[in-house]
Amino acid sequence: MAQTIVIFGASGDLTSRKLIPALYALHQKKRLPPATRIVGFARTPFSHEAWREQLAESTAQFAGAQFNIATWNELAARIFYFPGSVDQPDNFRALDRFLEEIEDSSTAARLYYFAIGPQFYEPAVVNLGATGLADETRGHRRVVVEKPFGTDLASAQQLNRQLRAVFAENQIYRIDHYLGKETVQNVLVLRFANTIFEPVWNRNYIDHVEITAAEALTVGHRAGFYDTAGVLRDMFQGHLLQLLTLTAMETPVRFEAEAVRDEKVKVLRAVRKLQPEHVASDTLRGQYRGYRDEPGVRPDSQTATFAAVKLHIDNWRWQGVPFYLRSGKAMSCGTTQLVIQFRQPPHMLFESGPRVPRDSNRLVIQIQPAEGVQLHFYTKVPDAGMQLRLTDLSFRFRDTFAGPLPEAYQRLLLDAIQGDPSLFARADEVEAAWRIVDPIQTAWDAGAPPPLLVYEPGEWGPTASTDWMTAQERQWFDTCPILR
Ligand code: BG6
Repeated sequence: MAQTIVIFGASGDLTSRKLIPALYALHQKKRLPPATRIVGFARTPFSHEAWREQLAESTAQFAGAQFNIATWNELAARIFYFPGSVDQPDNFRALDRFLEEIEDSSTAARLYYFAIGPQFYEPAVVNLGATGLADETRGHRRVVVEKPFGTDLASAQQLNRQLRAVFAENQIYRIDHYLGKETVQNVLVLRFANTIFEPVWNRNYIDHVEITAAEALTVGHRAGFYDTAGVLRDMFQGHLLQLLTLTAMETPVRFEAEAVRDEKVKVLRAVRKLQPEHVASDTLRGQYRGYRDEPGVRPDSQTATFAAVKLHIDNWRWQGVPFYLRSGKAMSCGTTQLVIQFRQPPHMLFESGPRVPRDSNRLVIQIQPAEGVQLHFYTKVPDAGMQLRLTDLSFRFRDTFAGPLPEAYQRLLLDAIQGDPSLFARADEVEAAWRIVDPIQTAWDAGAPPPLLVYEPGEWGPTASTDWMTAQERQWFDTCPILR
């Protein structure tokens, strides 16, 4: 069946940086359905030709060495532009007529991609519904919704209601681009395609889990958005909690969307809700020095650009095992990693062997940029009596597999086209994540402790973060990945 992708918000950054390069890569790999049409929809007037030219430049830039002009031209011939505004029903009717013209067939599947600001989601959904564009009598109609999915639980529920008034749940694809990353999907493979990890993947062997998404970048030109969001909404509600669910979930009965998503939701529902006194003791918030001078940031902004949060999962597997989640901008380096910190051996024979968890075995799953897995274990130092040293076994994707890892959007776009929602968040999943984040954000917004701490750019967040872990006899794995 013919396939059309309509990108609402086509003149924005996401379209040129991520979506079109991903579609280009899919076309190059011959994975797009034949004769896929791509239609950009936005207010800025462009001719088809002018938009294609602009996209050719940006795609050449973002696709780098993979860019080939002849391949691009094949795709570009099927790229169109339709000027319009998402709050004008007439524009949608005209869009429908235009799509019918170019689809060249009485049936065609359509994917509507919301690359628009979240304030435009509602009119876009309402108008898609009102003008019959969500109707599936002539082929699938699916909608991809970008983050932010709401700003709190109430707004996420409201957005879910608006979407569900027009689309069925199986037509809605809520994106969290972390799920499109190969290394994130590999967490499931590591856990469930191997026998050696799962038996020790529980409270009997694991002391704690660390999930870090550190960025060296500052907020840059996104300060206007970021200052109203902050790190909890921007990174924790989606990306970090997604990593937590994949790390903590039980084995799904089958590898299919609903079974996987059921298990993820169970984890989120088992996360203990933080009471105000625990927000004070179990969270940290920071702001990098210089943040308030960024253009678009309020001079007295209390927005956190760094947070560390300790969560507990109340179930049999994880009772008593804290999950430490941490993310920040302007940090020492860019690294996203999961650290499974094992307990020390129950009885230590060797004098220089580990006696506390922080010196013991560790599994480090590098999500990016040094994608891979390292297992840290003790080895005898040769010719040094019974001296021991923590050494590691290291696997790197780039050493084992040829070529760069594909961008997350390639997989996600293809899955949405093919109707596989496994790597997209379900309504209850998004809401469960907000239930975890909301009490923290509410307490912080009310000025409750902990206070907002200033940290120096290029550090691992506020120094209090290190002390906080030391006080719990733990230690962050503050190591920048080695890129070779
Ligand atoms: C986005 C956030 O969702 O994820 C950004 O809005 C953040 O603030 C980005 O920089 C990180 O994504 P990645 O893929 O670079 O880890």
